[in-house]
Amino acid sequence: MYKLPTLTPTRSLNAIAVLTSGGDSPGMNPAIRAVVRAALHSGIRVYGVQRGYSGLIIGDMDEMQAGDVSNIVQRGGTLLKSDRCAAFKDPVVRKQAATILQEKGVDGLVVIGGDGSLTGAHLLATEHNIPVIGLPGTIDNDIYGTDDTIGFDTAVTTALDAIDKIRDTALSHENLFLVEVMGRNSGFIATQVGLACGAEMIVVPDFAIQIESICFQLAADHAAGRGSSGIIVVAEGQQAGLTYRLAEQLKGHQQDAKVCILGHIQRGGSPTGHDRVLASCLGAAAITCLRAGYNDKMIGVDRGEIVAVPLEHVVNRNKPLNPQLVELVNILHR
Ligand code: ADP
Ligand code: F6P
Repeated sequence: MYKLPTLTPTRSLNAIAVLTSGGDSPGMNPAIRAVVRAALHSGIRVYGVQRGYSGLIIGDMDEMQAGDVSNIVQRGGTLLKSDRCAAFKDPVVRKQAATILQEKGVDGLVVIGGDGSLTGAHLLATEHNIPVIGLPGTIDNDIYGTDDTIGFDTAVTTALDAIDKIRDTALSHENLFLVEVMGRNSGFIATQVGLACGAEMIVVPDFAIQIESICFQLAADHAAGRGSSGIIVVAEGQQAGLTYRLAEQLKGHQQDAKVCILGHIQRGGSPTGHDRVLASCLGAAAITCLRAGYNDKMIGVDRGEIVAVPLEHVVNRNKPLNPQLVELVNILHR
């Protein structure tokens, strides 16, 4: 259980706005619900912005009431919709967004999204006089300054559910499977999933891929009588088609592997209890922090504590993957 921050309100807020941006993640809905209801509880009006920064720059926002967030705590996706808005990288466009917020009397913005979305939030906060709080919302868990992100637990659970099924057929037919999970720049999903499903190996973008060492490992496992079936979890990496290329390369080393790409299934579905609680606590904490006069901060989790981290320490930083956990996958499957 998290301990919620207790901060003395120093600022009286008229209205805030909330948006979801970038790749959606299961748990964004309970986060929106918490922001809306915690704000209303404190007498603050709330605007829900449609389609992330795309909606913000054209003022596509409506005032929300408590009933607007009924029955969404258990739903995947985001009620407010999400988008990727290249235009927001332009300072002139961000100025336009700030003007719209000021005209509407909005004196606080909550942005729920990944590293890119938090970068946009940081720029808006530093360039204009609008207090901004970011919440880490991404399945990737690759945001510096927080141990956990909204949606990671659900994505891992979804991938595990699929892999447990794949393992059944892999065992029956003594097949080797390369199962691709999401994670363009980071292997957090792959590592968590690999550990939890008892994978034979994981391949992550954080460390160079050594096809020879994969083949060597598989041959050693075979020679040790560990059978030829198994699961290798592969993080998708930057270039599409990585897992198929790996399968081709393995073929060249007399290793036949079937490929299964889990894809966007990992981004959908009902958020786990863990993600619902995380999202609810972070959403409520965002309002506490705005009322206490915080600006340009991300609310995250550090060793079980809810913390406010300056966005400048969060964005454009690489959250390192613990190599011990990658190695643990290898140790534990033997
Ligand atoms: P995520 O937030 O999931 O990491 P993206 O990296 O696609 O997803 O970023 C989502 C959105 O955040 C972008 O479409 C853009 O609107 C905004 N954004 C990303 N990077 C920047 C940036 N450098 N400056 C301003 N806005 C940005
Ligand atoms: O950032 C979340 C994420 O799901 C990544 O894991 C993945 O690489 C990317 O978004 C996929 O984005 P798109 O929906 O644009 O294919």
